[in-house]
Amino acid sequence: MIIVPSSSSESLAQKVADVLGARISGVERKRFPDGEMYVRILEDLQGNEVSVIGNIRSDSDFLELLLLLNAAREGGSSKVTAVVPYYGYSRQHRIYRPGEPVSSKVVTRALEEFSDRIVCVEIHDPETIGFSAIPFNNISVIQTTSEYFLDKNIDLVMSPDDGGFDKARKMAAILNIPSYFIDKRRIDSKTVEMTLPDVELTGKNILLVDDMISTGGTIIKAVKLLKEHGAARISVCAVHGIFAKESGKRIEAEVDSLVVTDTIAGEYSLVSVAKDIGKVIAGGNDL
Ligand code: R5P
Repeated sequence: MIIVPSSSSESLAQKVADVLGARISGVERKRFPDGEMYVRILEDLQGNEVSVIGNIRSDSDFLELLLLLNAAREGGSSKVTAVVPYYGYSRQHRIYRPGEPVSSKVVTRALEEFSDRIVCVEIHDPETIGFSAIPFNNISVIQTTSEYFLDKNIDLVMSPDDGGFDKARKMAAILNIPSYFIDKRRIDSKTVEMTLPDVELTGKNILLVDDMISTGGTIIKAVKLLKEHGAARISVCAVHGIFAKESGKRIEAEVDSLVVTDTIAGEYSLVSVAKDIGKVIAGGNDL
């Protein structure tokens, strides 16, 4: 197995290579004078299984990933796996308004064109998996993220909406504590209303969990509500820390701890998913 890192996932790719004892390839990258992207995999890949690890955090991440996948195949790899820790564009997995594309289908079909297998970590909506004609592993890191909180004396797990409740419920089961969700209703494109469940929160040590934090709007609103209702301590945990608009700093100022995984590596990445990825790309399945 040879690991090829995209520039969006270099530290995680190194950790996965360490876990597997696999070789990691160097990659030459530059821009042509007209701005076009150039990549070249420096390792001889002939006859080897190759995993290209790269997030889709931006449009250019996506292009780099596709170029590297194609380079891996053209280089004679026996099998090419696209490992996409953060699978961007997965929130547009259906048409909400006439005229829109199904963006997660576009991304999946493109990845499928250049690889033999797709692996990702907790995709926003598993509906995307159905767009793929090749094997698609969506890795759950619920066990790994829950273990971080085992000794943190958490009283209850809260999801900021009903869509995330399954995750909150599974984490709570590992921590052996109760779980709840906030009733989140969208009033219009700018207004969201949140109603807490009917449960005593005064003095409680609460773990608020979500799949991703982007602008932080969802988490900050939920945190404020929990505080108004007497929460003593609030820890926030998400798989993917996108942290658009410096939201990490704003959340950090409001809570007792902020923890995300290293799917998108950054200062709040206190949990690594390298072992989970390593296990799956080495052969195991997590469907
Ligand atoms: C919503 O369905 C997601 O699970 C997240 O709650 C949402 O994407 C977070 O976005 P933001 O941080 O911008 O509120």
